Order: sequence, then C-alpha cells, then structure tokens
Amino acid sequence: MSKITVVGSLSTDFVVSATKRPEVGETIVGDGFTTTFGGKGANQAVATARLGGQVNMIGTVGSDRFGKEMLINLKNNGINTSNVESVTHLPSGSAHITVVNGDNSIIYIPGANDEITKNQIKKAFPVIHSSDVVIIQNETPLEIIETVIQTCFEKGIKTIYNPAPAKKIERELIEKVSYFTPNESEYKLLFPELSLSEGMKKYPNKLIVTMGSKGVYFNDGEKEVHVSSYKVKPLDTTGAGDTFNGAFGVALTSGLDMIASIRFGNLAAAMSIQKFGAQSGMPTLSEMKESEYYEKEWHIK
Ligand code: RIB
Repeated sequence: MSKITVVGSLSTDFVVSATKRPEVGETIVGDGFTTTFGGKGANQAVATARLGGQVNMIGTVGSDRFGKEMLINLKNNGINTSNVESVTHLPSGSAHITVVNGDNSIIYIPGANDEITKNQIKKAFPVIHSSDVVIIQNETPLEIIETVIQTCFEKGIKTIYNPAPAKKIERELIEKVSYFTPNESEYKLLFPELSLSEGMKKYPNKLIVTMGSKGVYFNDGEKEVHVSSYKVKPLDTTGAGDTFNGAFGVALTSGLDMIASIRFGNLAAAMSIQKFGAQSGMPTLSEMKESEYYEKEWHIK
C-alpha cells in the first residue's frame, strides 16, 4: 500500500447552482444550495485514500463545527489526521462556489488554513520522510510549501506539486519537485513568457498540464505526449483536478509509468465529475475496476 502524505487545505464548500452567473448588481434566482467537504488538500487526500493509499493529512482547521466535521470526514475516509491541528482564533477554511452548466467558479477564504506553521511541518517530518510521495497544492502559505518541498528534496522523497490556484513562485521550487501539475489557465499565469510547448520542453517528465476534456500534455524528453481524457457528460467539475492529482500519485507509487499513471488519473477524474460535489464522486478502487475503461495491466491493489 502506497504511503502518501498530503499537505494542504481543508475547507467547507458552500455551493450554489444556477443557470447563469449574476452580473454586477444583479440578483438572480438559483437552483440549489448545499454544503460539501472540500479544500484542495483534503480533496486530494480523500481521492488517494479511496484508491487504496495509506494517507496522512497535514493541515489546520478552526475549532468550529466545520473543523470538527472535516476531521470526521477525513477519518471516515480512512485518513490519519494526527497531523491536522485546530486553531481557536480563526474560522475553518471555506470555499464559495457557483456551479453553472457543470463548471465552477470559486472564492476561497483560507481562514485557519493559513495558520499552518513551520513548526507543525517539522513535527510531521517523520511522516513526511517515510512517504512514498508527498502531494501539496497552493491553498497553503508559500513558506510552508517551500519548507515541505525543501525537506522532500533533501531526503529524496517524490513530490507532486499542484499549483492550484496559481500564485507567483520561484522557478527554483519547480526544479526541486518531481511533478508539477498546473491546469491550462494556471500554466498561462505561471509561465506567461513560455508557450506550452516551450514550458513542457523545459521541464520534461515533470511539467504535466491538465486540460479538462482536452486531456493531459507533457514532454517525455524527446517529444510532446498527449494523453486523452475519457468522454463523459460532467455534472460538476469541482474537484476534478484534485481527483487527478490524488489518483496520479497512487498510480505512480504503485509502479505505473507516466502515461499509465496519467490515464489512471484521467479515468478517476472522469468518474468524479459525474456526481455533484468535490469529494462525493471520487471513485474507490473497486468502482474504478468496474469501469469499462479500467485497464487490467494497471495492476493496482
Ligand atoms: O479544487 C476544488 C476545491 O477548491 C474545492 O473543493 C474548494 O474547496 C476549492 O478551494
């Protein structure tokens, strides 16, 4: 069983669905409202745990009811939460999401997620250093991201850095990670000076650009590689990237090569967007194995 550590955000998603987004100053009637579990970190932890990873989560919640519920949710998904700390002076993180025609737009309020400390990371070094892969995203303060990546780099631990949402980072950080997985719009914000082909050539077998229904692209050191997505009708794309990253991590640490790991991630993501909510559609390994697209040679246990 792969040992996977996820460092990142835990949030409650407040989700409204509507047939359009309101203009400035406009009030419209929506179709529905719900709260679901989210946060890119927690989502990636749940995605990996459902696929059989032995997952440790490192993050911070508030001491409100949302924080308590998020911890219960992680435990219910079999995730070790002993490195998730509670703070009293800020509310738990939240995301305010509008879903229109299956696609989402999000306002993220970090709250307690921004209170994660270097000390907390240092306390978790034994867990981090015994991981097969460490996954991290951008809903966490940059100094924490840098601390995690630096220690993994020094200890030779594989890392997947999902720079979502995009924020300015030093190029040196990218050199130190094993895999860097922006989506298309994050790529454009992070590398305004490099075309997609130039960027992928600069970071072969590391920069993996996810493009939703257009599939995934990377450069294998000799040529550009395109891995198609699975054609499904999306109900809600929230968390698709998180599912991809988690599943990609599980596949890599199970010994699959890059292309097979991306295909596995793509299938998990395609399954996840057929249900509403970031985590509710994330498949278990047995659900994936029941899919007509599951490839026997993936051999993931
Ligand atoms: O990637 C999707 C997640 O990002 C949502 O669950 C929400 O919490 C947002 O911040």
